[in-house]
Amino acid sequence: LRIAVLVSGGGTNLQALMDRMHEGTLKARIVCVGSDRPGAFGLERARTARIPTFVVDYSRYRRGEGGLPPMDTALVDQILARQRILPQGADPVAARRRLWGLICAERELMDRLDAHRPDLVCLAGFMRLLTPHFLDHYNTGGTFRVINIHPALLPAFPGRHGYRDTFHYGCKWGGVTVHFVDEGEDSGPVIAQAVYPIFDQDDESTVQKRGLHLEYKIYAQVINWIADGVVHVEPGPGPRPRVRI
Ligand code: GRF
Repeated sequence: LRIAVLVSGGGTNLQALMDRMHEGTLKARIVCVGSDRPGAFGLERARTARIPTFVVDYSRYRRGEGGLPPMDTALVDQILARQRILPQGADPVAARRRLWGLICAERELMDRLDAHRPDLVCLAGFMRLLTPHFLDHYNTGGTFRVINIHPALLPAFPGRHGYRDTFHYGCKWGGVTVHFVDEGEDSGPVIAQAVYPIFDQDDESTVQKRGLHLEYKIYAQVINWIADGVVHVEPGPGPRPRVRI
């Protein structure tokens, strides 16, 4: 299985995957590592492991520097109608301009990824919203080809601060989730979850440490399952599709 990994930050999940790849226990080859941030330490880790890297500078697209191509208004309207995360209301002109910048950034991201022909795109602390424009490109023929690791037991605590939110809520158990990526925020079909206990003497950092350990294990496990072809998405009893292993 050829996998691409996208990171925005430290990249300890990436490191765990690279370690397993070098050990021979990951049934996948990391063909490239991409980031939206030139300074992401994950890129450094990839370079050390001699894995090709690239950066897509989203902020340039946001500022419209160097000029964006003329807006494809039909595409923007179509995406705007479907996407569930960007603010749709307040200022429609700004929202459309912002979305067009995002679409242009994603075009570059897809080109850079596709140069390495990945079978699967793995988000590992990639802090950007992916629009339906990007997801349609990979989620074709009823198959999801983008996965994410989330630091909480979804659907509890979506968003960026899974560990903090779990700890502040006073949970006695925390969890981590690997899921397919769909158009919502951390809302795609759940592939695997793992839980850990939270003790009275814990603080946010001990909680995070415990959770990260589980992240490293289940992310690799899920990638191996996908490589083995045993992960199936099926209609569920309710409105949501569900994953069967
Ligand atoms: C992890 O907690 C992951 O669940 C979340 O972002 C964090 C990335 O950490 N999506 P790292 O960059 O892999 O160390």
